[in-house]
Amino acid sequence: MNQRITLERNGPVALIYIDNPPVNAGSLEVREGLLRAVKQVESDSQLIGAVLIGAGKMFIAGSDLNEFGKPLEEPQLPEVIRAIEQCSKPIIAAVHGAALGGGFELALGCDARVAAPGCLLGLPEVTLGMIPGAGGTQRLPRLVGIPKAIELICSGARVEASEALALGMVDAVAEGDLASFAVDYVRRLPDKRRIRDMNTPASDSAQIEQARAKALKAGRNRPQVSAAIDAVLDAATQPIDLALAAEREVFQRLRLSTEAFALRHLFFAERQSAKRIELDGIEPRSIERTAVIGAGTMGSGIALAILQAGLPVVLLERDEAALNKGMERIRADYDRRVATGRIDEARAEADLARLHASMDWEQVSRAQLVIEAVFEDLTVKQELLRQVEPLLDEEAIFATNTSYLDVDQIAEAAKHPQRVMGLHFFSPANVMRLVEVVRGMYTAPETISTGFALVRRLGKLPILTNNAFGFIGNRIYAAYRQQCELMLEEGALPAQIDEAMETFGMAMGPFAVADLSGLDIAWRMRQARSHLRDVNMRYVDIPDLLCEQGRLGRKTGAGYYRYDEQGRRNEDPRVTELIERESARKGIARRTFSPGDIVERVLTTMANEAALLMTEGVTTRASDIDLVLVNGFGFPKWEGGPAFWSARQPLASLKALQQQLAAVTGAGFIKGDLAMFHHLNAFSQSDAATA
Ligand code: NAI
Repeated sequence: MNQRITLERNGPVALIYIDNPPVNAGSLEVREGLLRAVKQVESDSQLIGAVLIGAGKMFIAGSDLNEFGKPLEEPQLPEVIRAIEQCSKPIIAAVHGAALGGGFELALGCDARVAAPGCLLGLPEVTLGMIPGAGGTQRLPRLVGIPKAIELICSGARVEASEALALGMVDAVAEGDLASFAVDYVRRLPDKRRIRDMNTPASDSAQIEQARAKALKAGRNRPQVSAAIDAVLDAATQPIDLALAAEREVFQRLRLSTEAFALRHLFFAERQSAKRIELDGIEPRSIERTAVIGAGTMGSGIALAILQAGLPVVLLERDEAALNKGMERIRADYDRRVATGRIDEARAEADLARLHASMDWEQVSRAQLVIEAVFEDLTVKQELLRQVEPLLDEEAIFATNTSYLDVDQIAEAAKHPQRVMGLHFFSPANVMRLVEVVRGMYTAPETISTGFALVRRLGKLPILTNNAFGFIGNRIYAAYRQQCELMLEEGALPAQIDEAMETFGMAMGPFAVADLSGLDIAWRMRQARSHLRDVNMRYVDIPDLLCEQGRLGRKTGAGYYRYDEQGRRNEDPRVTELIERESARKGIARRTFSPGDIVERVLTTMANEAALLMTEGVTTRASDIDLVLVNGFGFPKWEGGPAFWSARQPLASLKALQQQLAAVTGAGFIKGDLAMFHHLNAFSQSDAATA
């Protein structure tokens, strides 16, 4: 048919192979070829039907996302599906690997679906800011009912073959060779069996309402979630052709929304993040044995992450009580997951059997890679390295989980600093996907490559960063927090700023976060680094004053807020008073800030810091910065990250705001080159205009 689609005969049944490596994405060429193949099946009197099947590893993992930012070329997917439905002979889908998005919609357009064991089916469009646009919202409910369709489409869940069979999403799970099974299936299929001719099963309105409410909540009320729900509801009330047209219209609009561009940007950013020219050709060493030192908050979380990935870990402590507490935390996490049915007892036991807790340092010698998560103190970490290194194997890697210390200074305590690196996990380490992989000036490429590979093996997202204060994430976060503190002095209150940032979509406002993590951490750090303070930068005393009053955040019942017995945050007039007093003391006339002012100032600050990180060479990729903020700091993914955000702003106004920030922050404020991010917007500007 063409390069992507070939037709083979198996007796009277055609096998239509889709071959678009690596993931068989549904591209223009695939659609053209399919259309031709269907015509061939119709016109060839020797054929009684056909099977659509993927060559290579899967059926179709989704549509080519690159096409979604541009005007779509004909034939579009609905036309291909229409041809399949209108073909007088049955055409079935034989799915292996994955049938996702447009791939699953294509399968739904067929007369039956047979699945290889273990394959995955689903409609992830909502997670990419869109809704299914080729009938997914109309055909799936006819198979699984409205409530289940709402759940599946709004969550973008991938359903495994056996569950898909139970739900009715597929008609059979294949035994033996998939192609032969499918050919047999076509031979036995008496006639066409189009989903469009079926009635949507009636469902209980309470169940629908429940599914709706749950989906909206989990989907944080994003527009594509409610649009998907509305579309699915049409399946029960509208004639299918009207509903399909309505679905297509919404899809066409949403695929060009800022949100969809942002989510595609992050999707591609993740794919890019795995490809590092710096690591090209540098084979990671395979790591089978690990150790974690320090069983505190981070150490126990990291050990959990390692166990969950199926690796053994030695957990070391110098303090028995701390070790027991860490072990308890790990066990409690397993208990919780067993109790909620997420894993079974046997799996928990198998994982825990790989955990070896000890206070005997000799045990560290078993590890090929050690991660330390002891107190954040240079001397402690250096001492530890001196103590541990002689016990380690020649090749073993020592990774520090430090947040702010200088990885090079830590490495200087080692005989083999080339084997020292940073692996900066985020809290809770067993849950958060982000890990900054820190390359120090001594770190060998093989060390970095191995650390990078280990993080991926843990199922996490490794982002490469060079050694610098705060690496990528904490450095931007520090600048963000500082601007928010400046706004306090200039007229805003903590609750106003938090509300503005939460409305923008941050998981939590900066002052709520500060209260949660404890104000003393940053306080201690400011004290330790006071000799490094830039006298040309405005210094806000408010956080120090709160700490001096014993207001260390949630743990003391008060910080920027006052916390009631239920743990709810309340504004505190005493904090307001303190802030107003500080403004007066510094001779600053307080003014009002709109939520828009606050958000703009914060994001411009983040973008500015991001530009500085690039100029300084801490990172070479703007999209990595966006991934860090989204995956580690609760930045709303539908905004794409600070670099993506800034790319969408008119450069002149961004620069004007940057100028103002420089003026209020102090002479030490360095202006980053914000124009460097504008290429990130090339797509949306040209395409939104032409589509
Ligand atoms: P933590 O205070 O909860 O735990 C530290 C543990 O290390 C304690 O159990 C202590 O007994 C143990 N320890 C101290 N010195 C030791 C030594 N010489 N040998 C063996 N064990 C020793 O601290 P947390 O929060 O887990 O932080 C650990 C590291 O992780 C720090 O470097 C911190 O900056 C970093 N980090 C912390 C994050 C957080 O959110 N808490 C996030 C990312 C990094």
